[in-house]
Amino acid sequence: MPGFLITFEGIEGCGKSVQAKLLYEHLQSKGISSVLTREPGGSDISERIREILLDRRHLDMVPYTELFLYLASRAQHTQEVIKPALAQGKTVICDRYIDASLAYQGEGRSISRALVNQLNKTATGGLMPNLTFLLDIEPEIALKRIERGDRLEIESMEFHNRVRSGYLKLYRENSDRIVLLDGTKSIKQIHNEIKDIFEARMMKLE
Ligand code: TMP
Repeated sequence: MPGFLITFEGIEGCGKSVQAKLLYEHLQSKGISSVLTREPGGSDISERIREILLDRRHLDMVPYTELFLYLASRAQHTQEVIKPALAQGKTVICDRYIDASLAYQGEGRSISRALVNQLNKTATGGLMPNLTFLLDIEPEIALKRIERGDRLEIESMEFHNRVRSGYLKLYRENSDRIVLLDGTKSIKQIHNEIKDIFEARMMKLE
């Protein structure tokens, strides 16, 4: 049976990386063969692209450079890590994927959605997540949880609000794939919800 691709999305400080790791540990404990990875990054080349993207000295990076670098990282990562793992029947948990480009570069940087969609398709060969967890939270609360250090984290509150609206729009348009979670709940509560939803989806597939 081909594997299952689960992605986690949300603005910075929403808690998605903690949840991705908790789900991965849960699956491991149940003997479900899985991989935890992230974007940008997840492979040597993609991690090097990540460094360029997040370096706060690169404040003069123009929106198209940013978009193409995220997509370059995604193309490499999808081909080198995600697809081979899925082909082996593994469950892949990816911390950010295609929706991040639509929310950040599409809504956040005002790049045409049609273009981002097209380039996402080109970079991934059309590989879509089976399930996406979107942790929603107000930027005013989320950004207080993190030390704002990298190039994206130090963006304005308006930028983060646009990204959040972009994610909510994606949720409304893809509510069969994207599950919306309240990022203000406790880590444990959110983890339990994620486990329940994952199990229900797996049962449907069986
Ligand atoms: P992280 O916070 O999940 O480590 O992601 C790093 C940053 O990269 C975060 O600010 C979101 C941003 N990002 C994009 O702008 N577009 C993308 O396609 C991806 C994957 C991440």
